[in-house]
Amino acid sequence: MTTSSAAIQQDASRPFGLALPDYPWDAMAPYLKLASGHPDGVVNLSIGTPVDATPEVLRQALAGAANAPGYPTTHGTTALRQAVVDWFERRRGVAGLDPQAVLPTVGSKELVAWLPLLLGLGAGDVVVRPTVAYPTYDMGAVIAGATPVAADSLDELDEQTRSRVRLVWVNSPANPTGIVRNTDQLRILVDAARALGAVVASDECYAELGWGPWDPDRGGQPVPSVLDPQVSGGTNELLLAVYSLSKQSNLAGYRAAFAAGDPDLIANLVNSRKHAGMIVPYPVQEAMRVALGEDSHVRAQKDRYRARRELLLPALRAFGLEVQHSEAGLYLWCTAGEDTWATVQRLAERGILAGPGVFYGDAGNGYVRVALTGSDERIAAAAHRLSAGV
Ligand SMILES: Cc1ncc(COP(=O)(O)O)c(C=O)c1O
Repeated sequence: MTTSSAAIQQDASRPFGLALPDYPWDAMAPYLKLASGHPDGVVNLSIGTPVDATPEVLRQALAGAANAPGYPTTHGTTALRQAVVDWFERRRGVAGLDPQAVLPTVGSKELVAWLPLLLGLGAGDVVVRPTVAYPTYDMGAVIAGATPVAADSLDELDEQTRSRVRLVWVNSPANPTGIVRNTDQLRILVDAARALGAVVASDECYAELGWGPWDPDRGGQPVPSVLDPQVSGGTNELLLAVYSLSKQSNLAGYRAAFAAGDPDLIANLVNSRKHAGMIVPYPVQEAMRVALGEDSHVRAQKDRYRARRELLLPALRAFGLEVQHSEAGLYLWCTAGEDTWATVQRLAERGILAGPGVFYGDAGNGYVRVALTGSDERIAAAAHRLSAGV
């Protein structure tokens, strides 16, 4: 267990503004410069931003809802919430979700960053997040004035810390490691959190991107949700599932996501978000509704990522990297057994930009994260450079 706020220091001399650390990606500038010098151009696999087109059917849904003079509903249209309920049943094995217990969000990042504050957390409260994790979990805790703590199991915490835990983030499939938690593992975590009276927020934004044993299109099983009855025990009390359409539907630019779970928590969040004006625009709600009812574009996008993954895997190994976990999601979690920045440098010399593992916590040192979000042409170029040594 580590308190993960080392980089976050209060600056008493600062009269205004939150004391958040500088945005870490700015540290990539010299490596981007180096990689951009490659004669065939840079292959930027450092961030997971989708590069393929937003499906036409979703663009039409957005355009078709362009006449929107009135304020949209914060809770989401009835039709959108029903689409989320149907999606959970069809794609996630979660039947009978209450449409009242669904809430659209302005992308997931917004919810991740504001959830501790909206849950009423503050000084003295602990927010637990995975040891190697998406950095916004920490930022959300800090924005609320709570303490972020890195742990993969609540057993890792001392008694004093355990007594202060109010929110536990689980991220399966995980960014950046690609680790998937099965129903037993999720159930253990949920039981342990509930025993402390803590909320479990499960960030599941890569759930449709399972590989190997987690790839239902190839004989595997679906990635489980925290709302799966085998995990929840049949009640969603203290549980929130968080999902995003950014990756599965190439909608990152629309800011399209949702949360679902405990009806009381959702009702309180809806009320707070009404007061705060945290509303998903109506045309985006319509695009979400259509996206959640249309599985073929999700399958087509996943096929693209699968092909890129299969090209990159052997190439990264040929370059001398070991690919660990990466059972799902958009990233390959790689190590050469050396300092993170040494690997970032060696890849940049080949014109390839990878994400430094240290951006995801101290436990990420020695690793780089290679995203599958390059065009087919750029991924092929990277694979060639890695295998052929050019
Ligand atoms: C684990 C995780 N959660 C949340 C998000 C944010 O997604 P969104 O585009 O919905 O804000 C990301 C984006 O990369 C992510 O990796």
